[in-house]
Amino acid sequence: MPIPSRDDKFSFGLWTIGYNGADPFGGPTRAPLDVVHAVEKLAELGAYGLTFHDDDLYAFGSTDAERDTQIGRLKQALSDTGLIVPMVTTNLFSAPVFKDGGFTSNDRGVRRYAMRKAMRQLELGVELGAKTFVMWGGREGAEYDAAKDIRSALERYREALNVFGDYVTDKGYDIRFAIEPKPNEPRGDILLPTVGHAMAFIETLERPELFGLNPEVGHEQMAGLNFAAGIAQTLYQGKLFHIDLNGQRGIKYDQDLVFGHGDLHNAFALVDLLENGGPNGGPSYDGPRHFDYKPSRTEDETGVWDSAAANMNTYLLLKERAAAFRADPEVQEALSAARVPELAVPTLSVGESYDDLLADRASFEDFDTDSYFNGKGFGFVRLQQLATEHLMGAR
Ligand code: GCO
Ligand code: MN
Ligand code: MN
Ligand code: MN
Repeated sequence: MPIPSRDDKFSFGLWTIGYNGADPFGGPTRAPLDVVHAVEKLAELGAYGLTFHDDDLYAFGSTDAERDTQIGRLKQALSDTGLIVPMVTTNLFSAPVFKDGGFTSNDRGVRRYAMRKAMRQLELGVELGAKTFVMWGGREGAEYDAAKDIRSALERYREALNVFGDYVTDKGYDIRFAIEPKPNEPRGDILLPTVGHAMAFIETLERPELFGLNPEVGHEQMAGLNFAAGIAQTLYQGKLFHIDLNGQRGIKYDQDLVFGHGDLHNAFALVDLLENGGPNGGPSYDGPRHFDYKPSRTEDETGVWDSAAANMNTYLLLKERAAAFRADPEVQEALSAARVPELAVPTLSVGESYDDLLADRASFEDFDTDSYFNGKGFGFVRLQQLATEHLMGAR
């Protein structure tokens, strides 16, 4: 079994390992997890980072003194273990006041409060050295069409993000923002439901360069989308700022399973893309490999740490398998037989104009679509089977 190390850049949300098992149908099945213990265990298991919402570290409504105590305890644990805080985020969904959202609540007072809460956590993140501020707007949405003016809601979202962009720029902070899309849950419909919606929205902002994505495996799969393909587009557009890895089995409620405990083929394709999809076959992404999963409520504390380790082990195993896949001469031959590299060749020749294309009879008038392939296929299924065999450790 591969051993996780700090260089692998594995990080966990405090709310993931700290999940007490409560769901809409039943209460907690585990005791609360203390942040100092969490930091120590993560360091021992080989993770390099801890991330957290403000409310994960100190309960909503804490006094300043209680907040300071918890921040002090976290800082001490970080310095004792060498763990870092690569990302922070704000909870704008649990407290009852956010029942209609934070930045996009119909209520203006709530919107102002939400901005202040986020800016307070932004300050703490900067103080702890976080480079990414994640924004998951789980309550930013609606159940009823007439209840939410979507264009006004997007305008208010935009207003908040533009203020944050100005704020970090004026202060000279080295931190960027990552929007996390999700189609639904807890709201019936959430604003910016997919990677594509969020990337298009970012282009409307005043400082789009400060804003990117924190896509989550399960969230795209809840919408029936191909996660690895979505990640390829975020990379193509320079917007993969952070990533939430987990597992999901199809279009249903947000399962937050261990990474790989869902669509394993797509997890393999994802790790291959992150690790081998860069220029010259190197990594295409060098940020944290962040797990946003929930240890199932059937598990005890041992099960929590086993599941945390499982996320990292699965990632590393997939990384090994993907390297073997790329190194296999038969795979290289199958890739070229499937003409995968040919897609990188521009469709027009260097210097060729549309007039030249229109004058090229071979490309149209004399192009015989009926006999062109002579019945020959691409061999994509063979390639997928080679991937499957590598994934299963059979090669
Ligand atoms: C969810 C989300 C959250 C966010 C977290 C960070 O579906 O519950 O994935 O876990 O990632 O709030 O902003
Ligand atoms: Mn999720
Ligand atoms: Mn979740
Ligand atoms: Mn998430």
